[in-house]
Amino acid sequence: MAKVAPIGRRKADHIKINLEQDVHSGLTSGLERYHFVHEALPELDLEAVDTTLNLFGKKLNAPILISSMTGGTEEAKSINRRLAEAAQTVGVAMGVGSQRAALENPDLAETFSIARKVAPDILLFSNLGAVQLNYGYTIDQCRRAVDMLQADALILHLNPLQEAVQVGGDTNFAGLAKKIERVCNKIEVPVIVKEVGWGISERTAKLLAECGVSAIDVAGAGGTSWSQVEMHRAPDEFTRQLAATFVGWGIPTAESILNIKNALPEMTIFASGGIKDGLDIAKCLALGATLGGMAGQFLKAAALSSEKAVELMQLTKRQIQVTMFGSGVDNLDFLGNDQLAEI
Ligand SMILES: Cc1cc2nc3c(=O)[nH]c(=O)nc-3n(C[C@H](O)[C@H](O)[C@H](O)COP(=O)(O)O)c2cc1C
Repeated sequence: MAKVAPIGRRKADHIKINLEQDVHSGLTSGLERYHFVHEALPELDLEAVDTTLNLFGKKLNAPILISSMTGGTEEAKSINRRLAEAAQTVGVAMGVGSQRAALENPDLAETFSIARKVAPDILLFSNLGAVQLNYGYTIDQCRRAVDMLQADALILHLNPLQEAVQVGGDTNFAGLAKKIERVCNKIEVPVIVKEVGWGISERTAKLLAECGVSAIDVAGAGGTSWSQVEMHRAPDEFTRQLAATFVGWGIPTAESILNIKNALPEMTIFASGGIKDGLDIAKCLALGATLGGMAGQFLKAAALSSEKAVELMQLTKRQIQVTMFGSGVDNLDFLGNDQLAEI
C-alpha cells in the first residue's frame, strides 16, 4: 500500500504540478458560448464606467477574487505575500488555501496570516475542507482559521472527487450537510461554500441554501482539474489510471452559474473555474455572479513577482471596464443577461 504524503509535502507538490504540468480539464468553462452584444454608441465616458462594489462590509475596486490556493510551506508563504500585496494595491478579494496544516502545526500559521499582515484592507477569506467536519473538526477549528487571518468570511471547500482519486483521501462525505449547517448557525462570519473545479448542481445548491450558506462559489469545470493534479502525484499505476479517468468530469462554470441562478435566484454566487480574463469575469457577472475568481492564472503571475501579479490584476480590471463600456453599461448592477447573446 502506498504511503500517504504529509500535508507540507502535498502542498509543495500541488504548487509544483500546477506550475509545471498541463492540469487542464478536458472540458471548457462554457463561457465561450456567450458573447456581449456590442454597442457602437454606448453614450458613456469609459473613465466613468464604475467597476467597484461592496461585499461583506468591504469595498472592492473590481469584482475580482484571487481563488483559494495555498499556505503551509515557505514557498507558499511567499506566494501568499505576493498575492496579498497585489490584492491590497489593486483592491480585490483573496482567499488563502486550506488552513488545516496551520491548525495542526501552529508554527505554520504565518504562512497564511502574512496575507492579512500585508493587506489590512482587503476582503479576505479563510479556507478549510468541509469534509474535515467528519474527521474531528468542529466550530472551534473553523473559528481558529478565521481568527488566524482576521478573515471576513469562511470558505468551506467541497472536493469529493479529489479525495476519492488519491491514496488515503478523506472520503467520508456522509451527513456533512448537517455539520455545515451547524457551522453556519454558530460562526460569527458569513460562510461560503465552494467546489474546487467540478461545479455545483441545482440539487447541491438547494442543499447548501438549506444549510444557511451566505454565498456559493461554483468553481466549475474548464480550468484546473484536480483529478489531473492527483494523476501527476499518483504513487502507483492503479491510482494514476483512476485519476486519469475523470479528466472530462464536472459541470462547466457557465452551466453551474445558471444552475444556481435557477434554483436560488437570491443566492450570492461567485464564479470560478477556467476563467481566462476580465472578459470571462464580465460574462459570469452577466450570467448572475457577483465576483469572478481565478486560481491557476494568479499563481503563475505570483510565482514570478508581486509586480507581475499587480499587472495581471490591473489588466483583468481594465478588461472588465472595457467590456462594460463596449456593452453600454456603466455600473456592475446593470450587467445582466440582456447584454449577452448565446452563440
Ligand atoms: C495550487 C492550487 C492550490 C489550491 N488549493 C485549494 C485549497 O486549498 N482550497 C480550495 O478551496 N481550493 C483550492 N484550489 C482550487 C481553486 O481555488 C479553484 O477552485 C480551482 O483551481 C479552479 O480555478 P482555476 O480554473 O482558475 O484554476 C487550489 C488551486 C490551485 C491552482
